[in-house]
This record gives sequence, structure tokens and C-alpha cells, in this order.
Amino acid sequence: MTAVESRAWTLPELAALADSSFDTILALQDPSGAYPASPTFSAYRGYSWFRDGAFIADGVSAYGGVESASRFHDWCAGILVAREQQIGRIVAAAADGHPVPDSEMLPTRFTFAGQAGDDEWWDFQLDGYGTWLWAVVEHGRRHGLSLRPWSRAIELATDYLVSSWTRPCFDWWEERVEEVHVSTLGCIAAGLLAAAAHLDESRALAARGAVNEIRALIRTKGIVDGRLAKWLGSTAVDASLLSVIHPLGVFPAAGSIGAATIAAIDEQLNVDGGVHRYNTDTFYGGGQWPLLSCMLGLAFCAAGERDRALEQLRWAAGTATAEHHLPEQVADHLIDPSMRQQWVDRWGTVATPLLWSHAMYLRLAVELGIGRPA
Ligand code: BGC
Repeated sequence: MTAVESRAWTLPELAALADSSFDTILALQDPSGAYPASPTFSAYRGYSWFRDGAFIADGVSAYGGVESASRFHDWCAGILVAREQQIGRIVAAAADGHPVPDSEMLPTRFTFAGQAGDDEWWDFQLDGYGTWLWAVVEHGRRHGLSLRPWSRAIELATDYLVSSWTRPCFDWWEERVEEVHVSTLGCIAAGLLAAAAHLDESRALAARGAVNEIRALIRTKGIVDGRLAKWLGSTAVDASLLSVIHPLGVFPAAGSIGAATIAAIDEQLNVDGGVHRYNTDTFYGGGQWPLLSCMLGLAFCAAGERDRALEQLRWAAGTATAEHHLPEQVADHLIDPSMRQQWVDRWGTVATPLLWSHAMYLRLAVELGIGRPA
């Protein structure tokens, strides 16, 4: 597993890694438009996730990759429109008070051909559809693009989430299907809010209504010690919550909940710039994730702490391999070292390159004014 190279990266070196991250993502994008999660890693090979992909598209879009991000959004829109009947059944069943089982909900990842694929997975996760809505609207806003090519898919994703956002499902880490996760709710709220401005009146009303209910639910059951909790009723913290602060902006960094959440994650999960997912993580021993280090950096930017954000970018840069590839996680500081080998035996060495890591690096570089965009 990669080790973190602890040296002071210069700004031109950091910028060069942003450039090569962008090139890596574009070179690996499938002709279908899908962004592979990690092209060679055994358990991810051949699949693209709505969650990873939405953040990848956002990073690429922020770096100026208009066409690449649009092609990813086309791919997502194609999947949603092809599943219009399934979504119709899900929405109707929920309205009827007899929601479909989890196995009939939309998958979390798809083959590049847009199919569910034959491999077993922890598939029912809602966050990616919310993050996708947010990312496609943000892409259109950033580059002055019409949302018309994606409008039917935006309607379908909205209907799906409005009908089903209260359901427990697997979280970002594909764990704890029995819980309602606060970062999942945050991703859904961000997506519905972004979409609402582009929807017909009745859909916009439903979307905004759901956002208000989500915010109220989080405020009553998803906050502990003034900060966001891992799931409703939990006292734990989780680094995925950073996204809900920035860039998704549901609980902004300037507010007390945003500020307290950043402080708790910094204190409990950040070790010298490397951020853990949560404090009982055992996946590959529970290492530090460069994509989360960059998310903490983004939160620091939003809180006006530029120097700390730059430290986060430097730490993430230090995880790059000799080929300038960023891994999913590094093993320098493991929460439970005894668990690492069994994952290596099961799935092989850590996913590298992980395109989501490259995308978060890009996104933070842009926010810090390091790298390509003028
Ligand atoms: C992570 C997910 C991610 C997937 C593909 C999993 O190990 O828990 O968040 O979507 O890998 O990168």
C-alpha cells in the first residue's frame, strides 16, 4: 500500500499533479461517458457509481472539462430514462403506502453499458442520485449550459427521491442498511434544492417540501453536541458529512452546525492531514483517505482557513504513486491494523488509481486557485 511522502510540495508541483489528475480521469473515462471507479481494482472493475461519478464530474467540470462532464451526465440521464417504468412503479408503490422492497430500488453502480451487472453488491443507496442532481445543475450553472438534454432525467431522479428519501439504506461506505444516514439525507436535500429551480411548479413544490422536511429531521434527530451525526440517533461522526457542508452547502461552514461538524471531524478523524472515514472503520485496516482529506480542505476553504486547506492538499499529494496515481486509502495510520490483510487477501491491494480521489484533489486545487482554470 502507498505510503505518504512527507515533504513540502511546491505550488507548481501541486499544480502539475492537478493537471495529471485531470488527464488520468479523462484518459480512463469510458466511451459511454461512464467514469470507472477504479479501472483495475478487482471489486470495482467495470463499474461506475453515481456517487463517485457525480463528484468526479464536478471536479472535472470545475477544472474546465466541460465536454467530459457533460458526457458523464448524458450517461446518467440515459440510465434514468431507460428506467422510467421502474421509477414509476417505485413512486406509485410509495404513494400507495406499500413501498417496493430494497431489491427493486435503483442500484448504486452500473456497468458502463448502463446495466446493473451480475455481481452481488450492497446496492440500495440513495445518496448518489441526490449528488448527481446537484452536480448536473452545478455543471450547467458553472458553464452556462442548458439543462434541456438532462431535463427528463432530472424529473425522474426528483420523483424517485421525493418518493423514497425517508427509507433507510446503505451509506456512502455501503454499510448499515438499517439506518437513515445524515450524509445521505444531505446529498438528497442538496440535489432536490438544486433541481427545484429547474422543475415545473408541482415538482418544485414537492422537492422543496422534501428539503424542508429533511432539514427539520436532521435538526431533531441528526445532531449531537451541536454537530451532524453519522446517522439519525447516532453519536458518532463520519467524514462523509463534510460534503454536506461544502460543496453541497446544506449546512454551510459559516453556520454553527457546519462549524461544529468541521471541528469534530478535524479533531476525531484527521491525523496530520490524512482523514479517516469514521473512528471504528476496519476496511483495509481503516486507513486515511485522500479524497476525504481534500473534502476537509474544501470545508476549511469554505470556513476561510486557506492555510489549513493547503495543508490538506499537500497531504493528499503525498499519497501519489510514482505514476502520479492517487489511491483510495493509505496505511500510514491504521485504526485496526489486524484487519488489513484479510481485505488484501479478498480483493487485492488498495484501489489505485481511484478516480474519485483524483477528482477531489482537482476540486480542492481549483478552490485554492492552484492549477489550470483561469
Ligand atoms: C466505497 C464507496 C465507493 C466505492 C467505489 C467503496 O469501497 O465505500 O464509497 O463508492 O468504493 O469507489
